[in-house]
Amino acid sequence: MIAHVLTELYPWTKSLHVMSVIAWMAGMFYLPRLYVYHCETKRGSAESERFKVMERRLLKQIINPAMIASWTFGGLLMATPGVIDWASGWWLTKFTAVLLMSGFHGALSAWRRAFLEDRNTKPQRFYRIANEVPTVLMAVIVIMVIARPF
Ligand code: HEM
Repeated sequence: MIAHVLTELYPWTKSLHVMSVIAWMAGMFYLPRLYVYHCETKRGSAESERFKVMERRLLKQIINPAMIASWTFGGLLMATPGVIDWASGWWLTKFTAVLLMSGFHGALSAWRRAFLEDRNTKPQRFYRIANEVPTVLMAVIVIMVIARPF
């Protein structure tokens, strides 16, 4: 019964999954960029305080709910009969990359708290490099689910 409903809803679940993932990725690409610019401001300045507001809103209003939605709809797709070949390399690689993406999300949250409490010690270069992590993971994920090279 549940399997039947999931199969009927499959194209809708997948559409909602892709929409959530787009919102999640938009935030994951932009938040480390904000940290790059935040590094250029003086502690306690009005500019630094404004970055704190932007960072909080982006994380709490976009990135966190979008990640929850991506996992929810992704989980429903996983539960849909016949969607995943569990032994396939593409699925294992995608799932690993998604776990790493979620871990990076956790790191972004921790770094936001450090900026909020004026105790960031990482240099701007660190955030410039960190900025590339979600891009690489996203490329791996999309190639795995669409081209499925193995
Ligand atoms: C959050 C955890 C995630 C889970 C549990 C998950 C799981 C899934 C599953 C089971 C499918 C169905 C595959 C199929 O229809 O054959 C799917 C499709 C898809 N996922 Fe995810 N996913 C997650 C995150 C992501 C992320 C972060 C991205 C992109 C950066 C992404 C991009 C896609 C795309 C583009 C499709 C559609 C592929 C197609 O056309 O068949 N997913 N996902």
